[in-house]
Amino acid sequence: MERVGLAITGCGAASPTQSVSNDELSDFVETSDEWIASRTGIRSRRLAMPGDSLASLGAAAALQALEMAGLDAEDVDLILLATSTPDDLFGTAGVIQASIGAKQAIAFDLTAACSGFVFGLVTAAQYIRTGTFKNIVLIGGDILSRWVNWDDRRTCVLFGDGAGAVVIQAHTVDGLLGFQLRSDGSQNACLNLKIIEDSQEMSEDVVVIKGGFSPITMNGQEVYKFAVRKVPEIIEKSLFQASLTASDVDWLLLHQANQRILDAVATRLKIAPEKVVSNLATYGNTSAASIPIALNEAVRDGRIQPGHILALAGFGAGLTWSPDRPPKSSPTFNFAIGVVTMKDPRQAIVQNFAKSIADEVCDRWCGDRSDKSPLFLSPNPIKYSLNLFLKSLD
Ligand code: UT7
Repeated sequence: MERVGLAITGCGAASPTQSVSNDELSDFVETSDEWIASRTGIRSRRLAMPGDSLASLGAAAALQALEMAGLDAEDVDLILLATSTPDDLFGTAGVIQASIGAKQAIAFDLTAACSGFVFGLVTAAQYIRTGTFKNIVLIGGDILSRWVNWDDRRTCVLFGDGAGAVVIQAHTVDGLLGFQLRSDGSQNACLNLKIIEDSQEMSEDVVVIKGGFSPITMNGQEVYKFAVRKVPEIIEKSLFQASLTASDVDWLLLHQANQRILDAVATRLKIAPEKVVSNLATYGNTSAASIPIALNEAVRDGRIQPGHILALAGFGAGLTWSPDRPPKSSPTFNFAIGVVTMKDPRQAIVQNFAKSIADEVCDRWCGDRSDKSPLFLSPNPIKYSLNLFLKSLD
């Protein structure tokens, strides 16, 4: 049976119009532009106003992506919304489906915190590769400003709101070169947006918990250490799976959490700073939206071109990440990586090359060759080295 591939054929993004600078924040939170900018790289963020909703931001991003792809909303098979902050706990994807007129599409939400977009990309790929769907709209969106404690300066200064979207379509050549996903729930307390356990006595014998969520809590230093340690490792593994090395990467597009994390990951991978996509100075950390918003900007301003190889990685809270041999103090995070290319696959495929770097990668990350990672069990790395085609950029 001929394998079905996938291509990203359009992208879009939408942000609230209200922009709040660090100086403005410091009027009502005990902080400063100097502290925020030097520790995170963030200078301002877009914050949703009362009339804004995740559905409206997501729909606007989706319509832009559909327009770029030249695809009619009625031809969409699936709308996948990666978010931790739905307008409705039963899901917001369905509201977006109705709003954009995607009458034939099924729609559902996917929760994987800041890794949501990359988890969504891999989920969408499964539907396309199995022939189930041909046209998918994947949206990453979050409105975390509604879930932070505006008196907690350790978290409230970090986040911004927004949505980004891509259209993913079946294609003869597959653009998803390789991916690695990890979860580890053992230290879930590092980053939470938890239900409040507020009990309500219905009768003498019946007690229930009233719904509601506590604001975000985060152990920033643990998350930081985790990201800097694990993101380069998983990117290198994914590149290996795709028969590539970091030197092949045209753009490193990580979850936009902290400029220092972006810099540290790039340094460890020996990727030049000018190849790192960064927009957190003006958006802050927009959680599941951060990768597609940055992708959209870089495509529309012409930095990302057909033929380029992109390495994407998300990391964050919620579900869990589990290395093959987790260190005992492994924090609890969610982690995903996808690597995509727009190059002619025949130029990139050299299986012997993959074998030649296997020892180096094993030495660096796995200790020995008995590692059971799917990476090393992959029977034929060539099959992952395929093509991404941005139709609209042709
Ligand atoms: O998207 C999910 C993934 N999340 C992340 O990737 C976040 C990763 N972590 C980080 O980006 C950093 O850890 C932070 C930016 C959150 C914090 O930076 P840090 O350098 O780790 O600072 P810290 O937490 O160690 O705090 C240092 C000091 C503390 O004061 P003391 O105890 O040393 O007196 C804090 O109370 O900075 C203080 N502080 C602030 N000061 C001014 C914390 N937040 C602020 C603030 N303004 N907003």
